[in-house]
Amino acid sequence: MPVTITWTGHATWLINTGSGVLLVDPFFDECPTASMKSKDVACDAILVTHGHVDHVADLITIATRTKAKVFCNWEIGQWLEKQGVGNVQPMNLGGTTAVPGGTAKMELAHHSSSLPDGTYGGNPCGWVLDVGGKRIYVAGDTSLFSDMERIGKVRGGKGLDVAILPIGDLFTMGPDDAIEAIRLLKPTLALPSHYGTWPPIEQDAAAWAKEVAAAGVGAAKVLTPGDSVTLA
Ligand code: NI
Ligand code: MN
Repeated sequence: MPVTITWTGHATWLINTGSGVLLVDPFFDECPTASMKSKDVACDAILVTHGHVDHVADLITIATRTKAKVFCNWEIGQWLEKQGVGNVQPMNLGGTTAVPGGTAKMELAHHSSSLPDGTYGGNPCGWVLDVGGKRIYVAGDTSLFSDMERIGKVRGGKGLDVAILPIGDLFTMGPDDAIEAIRLLKPTLALPSHYGTWPPIEQDAAAWAKEVAAAGVGAAKVLTPGDSVTLA
């Protein structure tokens, strides 16, 4: 089964593994660039990178409506359970869990994490998804860090098919560090995220993709919110 990855805007992604849809960091209704509304989202599991509002704004409503299991760190899991979201798999860095279509490993991210009401949100994370025969790294909000070389390492004869990387700068790594991240991760394809939502994180993603190619580190594809990439 092909795996289809859809960017709905900002840092929100839908990954159809062929045996279930994973939703990463639900932010729809207050997102100025979102391609859809939260009420129209269908998913089987929700993965959360950290507690900031631009990653969890529609988490409770979508989790409640769809009954999709939420995979998140311990602290966000506790916060969700207090608000009546019971279908939660709390985890922590280094842990791997089964998700529809394969597995998800909670990996490092260098950022911060507090929930919209000020509750401590635990450690931020990225995700390495082995789903539908593909390996997809979702970096989450992070700076560049040298462990990306380890995250991109070939395991079981397989490197990363896709790396979803923030390029917005200011709150995460910017375009130049994202090129260095591609150099370390060696994905077949890089997809830019966490940019263009508001003026402070505006970026020329098309120019960045050209720089990626010119640097000889890999290939990047720029999506418009609502666009998909299918991995055959
Ligand atoms: Ni953040
Ligand atoms: Mn963010």
